[in-house]
Amino acid sequence: MSDLLIRGRVLTFVREPEGIDDTASYRFFEDGAVLVSSGKIAAVGPYGDVAKQADGGVPIADHRPHLVLPGLIDTHLHFPQTQAIASYGAQLLEWLNTYIFVEEQKFRAPEHAAFIAGRFTDELLSNGTTTAVAYCSVHPESVDAFFTAAEERNMLMIGGKVMMDRNAPDALRDTPERGYDETKQLIARWHRRGRAHYAVSPRFAITSTPEQMEMSRALVAEHPDCYVQTHLSENRDEIAFATSLFPEAKDYTDIYARYGLLGRKTLLGHCIHLSDREISVLAETGAVGVFCPTSNLFLGSGLFDRDRFDKLGARHSVATDVGAGTSFSMLETMGEAYKVLHLQGQRLSPLNSFYMMTLGNARALDLEDRIGSLHAGADADIVVLDSRAKPAMELRMQVASSLAEELFVLQTMGDDRSVTEVYVAGKPMQSGRVEVRRDVP
Ligand code: GUN
Ligand code: ZN
Repeated sequence: MSDLLIRGRVLTFVREPEGIDDTASYRFFEDGAVLVSSGKIAAVGPYGDVAKQADGGVPIADHRPHLVLPGLIDTHLHFPQTQAIASYGAQLLEWLNTYIFVEEQKFRAPEHAAFIAGRFTDELLSNGTTTAVAYCSVHPESVDAFFTAAEERNMLMIGGKVMMDRNAPDALRDTPERGYDETKQLIARWHRRGRAHYAVSPRFAITSTPEQMEMSRALVAEHPDCYVQTHLSENRDEIAFATSLFPEAKDYTDIYARYGLLGRKTLLGHCIHLSDREISVLAETGAVGVFCPTSNLFLGSGLFDRDRFDKLGARHSVATDVGAGTSFSMLETMGEAYKVLHLQGQRLSPLNSFYMMTLGNARALDLEDRIGSLHAGADADIVVLDSRAKPAMELRMQVASSLAEELFVLQTMGDDRSVTEVYVAGKPMQSGRVEVRRDVP
């Protein structure tokens, strides 16, 4: 039985665009529709064709003239840092010690964790993000709060308890055994419950002893189906400190390689100052470098070299990295990604931006059969975008003449005001704003 017919200007990618003129990389239906049945996509195409497949009397959500796309995907951010965005004046290590390790201590209190988890997931949805990969705090309660909030909204979310047993305040340190035991319990409780996926999360080499890295290796070996997330090569002082703690490693990347932490399910935040050797190791292992443009600019960390990743065949994805990242909006993030690449003489076409936020990030998670594109059988996670959401956008759009130009306006000027609706497994999450008509197709 069909539940809902979503009408609008439907756009979805089928492969990575090769340039701004690569019209074969996507499917676009100017008067298109997505038919939703039991939380999944039943059909996608021109409105007339799709409407014929719907049951008579199906409700129609008519979003014309807005764009209907797959829900956006954010591959790296920190839910306990929601109230620490815009913390002034420091680079990575000082910023962590001054602001973040203070903020994250609040998540010992389950009520605080639950409150922020609810606001955090709602903020993601307001920005059109339907899937995110998040770090929780060291407290298992923060993971329960995170997955509970995601489950209440039926979102496909990935997350895990940070493990750290050194170079952090006492109140934020676990031990190798506790980190291992708590992670195991959380995997048993949450991994693949509903739409939840667990990520084993040693914070970074600086905050884990060799003993905790060994425990991480064991967790990853025992749970090959879980993701792994950590940070790599974000800041020069961080690199010097991390490599001094593991003198036997060839370089920063080799620290993680030696502990068996690199594989197709591994997401490595930042990856800015890597040698060709290190990027080649990522390419060989299938690990993903995560580009976090607003964060890298905010902390003065450096510029992600996407072209070198492509040349050496390494996978990459894109993310907000809130709270070093300055916005929950993947649109704003791509606007900044464009500038970071431009500064290095690299091009980021708007087609590529929209590919990256959707199918590209889904592929980085090996979840492209479920999310990131609109195709029959996929989960019905969908965002509706208004390219004229602000007066200045409306003016700019008066002279726009192509879909690519419209997308570029959206990524350069858009933010949460451009998100007019978001569907999670077919359910509208901003109801009140969407006008659902009953109609006979
Ligand atoms: N490296 C280790 N922890 C963090 C964090 O919380 N944010 C960022 N940006 N980098 C990190
Ligand atoms: Zn991070």
